[in-house]
Parts: sequence; structure tokens; C-alpha cells
Amino acid sequence: MSNEMDKEIVGHDYDGIKEYDNPLPGWWLLTFYGTIIFAFIYVAHYESGSGNSLKKDLEIALAQIETLKSSVGPIKLDSEEVLLEKAKDPKLLAVGAEQFQGKCASCHGNELQGLIGPNLTDNFWIHGKGTLTDVITTIRTGVADKGMPPWEGILKNEEIQALASFIHSKYGSQPANPKEPQGQKIE
Ligand code: HEC
Repeated sequence: MSNEMDKEIVGHDYDGIKEYDNPLPGWWLLTFYGTIIFAFIYVAHYESGSGNSLKKDLEIALAQIETLKSSVGPIKLDSEEVLLEKAKDPKLLAVGAEQFQGKCASCHGNELQGLIGPNLTDNFWIHGKGTLTDVITTIRTGVADKGMPPWEGILKNEEIQALASFIHSKYGSQPANPKEPQGQKIE
């Protein structure tokens, strides 16, 4: 006599342990067929050339690095006159002001009056004579042994130029509690 249960037995019977022929769960089958369909799409996508090969991916990544390098790499400095002209741009000054508060104010003071680093508003300079070219150079290369970090490669060239322009716009601003003069007086 066979009942409903018997029909589902596959015929494997090991010491009384029986295997039933239950259907596989729906979610499992869906995943399984899904992987087969995915394989076809995958092969078609990459073999037809519409998907990037690893080599192409590498080329794209390298190109991105190159673009990044050209925006932070060795600076092509304009002449002092051109820099001065550009330094009037309010947008550039706004970028400089923002960068300064975020990256420089901790050492040079919110008003550039000097704290750990020198006062940047007076006419005393340790490095150069306070021209935009000088200031850009100091910001780029830093003064490692005196605690002024180098910013080249960390900030973009435009940001460094913006910072120098912002500092330039604060010359003679006579902030409260200035740090004592450091360096050479520039007439
Ligand atoms: C960790 C502290 C620190 C930070 C942050 C810092 N500086 Fe300086 N900076 C110094 C010190 C210290 C000096 C003086 C170096 C020396 O004695 O030669 C200096 C010098 C300078 C000078 C030259 C001043 C002169 O008299 O020649 C400029 C310009 C300058 N910093 C700009 C900046 C700018 C712009 C930033 C932000 C991007 C910045 N610094 C961030 C500490 C700092």
C-alpha cells in the first residue's frame, strides 16, 4: 500500500533514514537561474566590447591620476603683475579666506595676527619680501624644521594662489594682539 508520503521518497533508504523528494525552495531556484542568466549577460557585455576590459579600466584610472597630478603638480607661476591682477578677484579671495580658516588659522591666527607662525599682516618677512611669488613659494614648500608644513600636493595650485591672494589682501590690516615682528623689515 502506498500513501502520499511514499510517493515523495526517492528510493534512498539508509538504515531507515529516508530521503524525500521535496521541491527546492523557490528563492533558491530563483537565485540559481538568476546566476545562469547573469552569466550570459556578463559574457555578452564584456565579449561584445561594451564593457571595459581590465586594461581599459587601468588606462582610465591612469588618466585620472594624470589629471589630478596636473592640478596639484609643479606650478607654472604667472608673473607678479599677473598674480597681483588676479589677486583682486573676490571669488579667489573667498576661496583663500575659507582655506585659511580651515588650514592655517590654527598657527597664524584667525586675523593672521600670528600665533605659532608669524604675523602675516605686518611688513616683516622671514622668507622673501612678501610678494605673491614669495608667499606662494613658502606655502608650497613650507619650512619643515620650523614647523610650517609644505602644502604642495595637499592643496591645489589654485587654492595656494587663493591663499596667497587672501594673505596679500590683509597686508597692513593691523589685527588686535599681533605677534611680535619676525624676520626682515621690508620697506
Ligand atoms: C603647524 C603650524 C602652521 C600651519 C598649520 C601653517 N603655518 Fe605657516 N608658518 C608656520 C611657522 C612656524 C612659520 C615660520 C617659519 C620660519 O620660522 O621659518 C610659518 C611661515 C609662514 C609664511 C612665511 C612668513 C614669513 O614671515 O616669511 C607664510 C606665508 C605662511 N606660513 C603661510 C601659511 C599658510 C597659507 C598656511 C595654511 C595653508 C600655513 N602657513 C599653515 C606655521 C604654520
